[in-house]
Amino acid sequence: MNNTELVKLNQKYGIRDQLEFKEIFEGFIIADIRNPHAEATVALHGGHIMSFKPRDHEPVLWLSRNSHFKAGKAVRGGVPVCWPWFADHPTDPDKPAHGFVRTAIWSVSESETLKDESTRLKLFISDSEETMKLWPHRFRLEMDCTVSDILRIKLISTNMDNTPFTCGGALHSYFNISSISNILIKGLEGCPYIDKVAQGRRKVQDGCVSVKGETDRIYLDTTADCIIEDSGMHRRIGISKNGSRTTVVWNPWIDKARKMKDFGNDEYKRMVCVETTNADTDVIPLAPGSTHTLESIIRPESLN
Ligand code: BG6
Repeated sequence: MNNTELVKLNQKYGIRDQLEFKEIFEGFIIADIRNPHAEATVALHGGHIMSFKPRDHEPVLWLSRNSHFKAGKAVRGGVPVCWPWFADHPTDPDKPAHGFVRTAIWSVSESETLKDESTRLKLFISDSEETMKLWPHRFRLEMDCTVSDILRIKLISTNMDNTPFTCGGALHSYFNISSISNILIKGLEGCPYIDKVAQGRRKVQDGCVSVKGETDRIYLDTTADCIIEDSGMHRRIGISKNGSRTTVVWNPWIDKARKMKDFGNDEYKRMVCVETTNADTDVIPLAPGSTHTLESIIRPESLN
């Protein structure tokens, strides 16, 4: 995007003193949102919420200091949009993990200030020649987010084709925590899960989730709200959801973190992913013209 296009984008969708589009790295445009409730940044690259910080809170989302911010690479942290499949492609390992929209450039379709001074921003992406090579369906995917003292994210999938398709995906939120040893994740007690670090064995969650080593779990058949209780930060983060029956909990721990170029060696201590997901048998059949909304509502609450 050249400077004239950036000026036009701000003229059309910028909001005085509340939302400004900026180029923070070459070709990498973000919406910088500030309102009386919170600050947030949203990248056109990936339709990706990179940060969210309500007033009087530490950042709620974690972003790696080693993240890439360039074409073709996913941002490490924030809320990547995984779509139209979650994790590896079900039949073709050569296709990108977590689908293709997290590395594509999205467009802006709406911005507004709501009555309570929250800021709403809507981005979208549609099928193109490139996407057709990876996934032969016509679609429109929208990321509709509202920034206030809570963060509300809707991912709206629409089948624009003449034939049905199924889609999976996730709002793959990375949370900023005081230390992995200080947190408990509540809400998944008694829930069956696929343990990806134990060759995909099926297990049942015994009590709250505490992370004590590499953790990669797909919790099945759950619509429950989760709470990350962080005793070190004296904070609780509520994650509620709609349109999802799967929740994924991920922390790469030491060895896997070391192998990832976009992840600092010690950063696994300060993050945990609790992802609002459609995966495994929870994939969404969409008839021509129909729509599915996956929603995640992130609600930090100070315990002081
Ligand atoms: C999680 C998956 O959702 O994302 C993990 O369950 C995966 O298996 C992780 O390692 C990160 O994926 P990526 O492609 O961003 O490195």
